[in-house]
Amino acid sequence: MSVVTVSSGGSGAEKQVPPARPATEGGAGLKPGWGVSPERQHDILDTVSHLAPLSGRLSPAQLRAVATTLAARRELWADLVVHDPDVRWYLPLHRSSSCDVWLLAWERGQDTDWHDHGGSSGSFAVADGSLLEQYRVPSGRRLGRRRLGAGEAVAFGPGHVHDVGHGGEGSSTSIHAYSPPLSAMTYYTATDYGLIARETVAIDGPEGARGRGGADTALAQANASAARLTSDALPDGAPGIDELLAEARSGLHRLRPEAAFAAMTDGTVLVDIRPLEQRIVEGEVPGAIIIGRNVLEWRLDPRSEARIAPLARPDVRVIVMCSQGYASSLAATSLRRIGLSEVTDLEGGFQAWRAAGLPVRPAQALG
Ligand SMILES: [Fe+2]
Repeated sequence: MSVVTVSSGGSGAEKQVPPARPATEGGAGLKPGWGVSPERQHDILDTVSHLAPLSGRLSPAQLRAVATTLAARRELWADLVVHDPDVRWYLPLHRSSSCDVWLLAWERGQDTDWHDHGGSSGSFAVADGSLLEQYRVPSGRRLGRRRLGAGEAVAFGPGHVHDVGHGGEGSSTSIHAYSPPLSAMTYYTATDYGLIARETVAIDGPEGARGRGGADTALAQANASAARLTSDALPDGAPGIDELLAEARSGLHRLRPEAAFAAMTDGTVLVDIRPLEQRIVEGEVPGAIIIGRNVLEWRLDPRSEARIAPLARPDVRVIVMCSQGYASSLAATSLRRIGLSEVTDLEGGFQAWRAAGLPVRPAQALG
């Protein structure tokens, strides 16, 4: 349920790249410790600065100029490339407040997974070999597909969603530029209903390179940043979400999936409050009743005109289920506050249910 997650497992695990050595200084151009000599950094900075300003937001056309020019300047990067069949390899070439530029190497079978660029525009140019880009066509659910050979490039604005992969024979190398520099990306799952957003990751690497610097580091930085931004503006005594959650759970006798499954055979109702997008990606529990979180109280309050009559009883036994078992605790507590004393929630949510090997099925309907 996290808004910002950093995942090192699941389908993206094979696309992990080894952590780069940490930067020790800020400023324009390359940061020290990234394996590129200061002279090379200066040459790259000189090249980029002739093509685009080092501050402000660059257009896709400017980013294309940066990517294609650097791709053609092989003396700036060719001796640095590492082709690794096991992990995707990349190297930061340049970073200013206006853009960041990356060198990527690709081997057969390597791709990025579906993603956007968190509001950044971007461009990539193929220097060696070829890349295959699948992308979402803005005007519909249709997906486009194009193969790019050496010397070719694409540029895109914010909102572009694509999956970039190795294009076929031999090794491939490409130059990628983004403006503003990448800070977050959302990953998507391709479904029968189109591309569904799956998770947003805090990031400072290119094209599917997750959590450079370590997942814990990226998440901790995001959390610390959020705390700095908000702590002074809040009223004294206002509970944080962690406190609110702990308070909610202190009043619940939460059920593990096996216990919930047993209760369902005894008349207890499992209520799935996940949004459609999550049900499509994750699947559903046969027999669960789907009630959106935004209408939950109105459907189950016996006094509500919008109630579901057979369920909206004071003694109804309900187990609320979300994806991971966080939002469900707050929702269950809200139902108990309106008098439904037999309501609790599913510990670990749908994901724990599935992991326990209990029955699941693909999402059944759009509604
Ligand atoms: Fe991308």
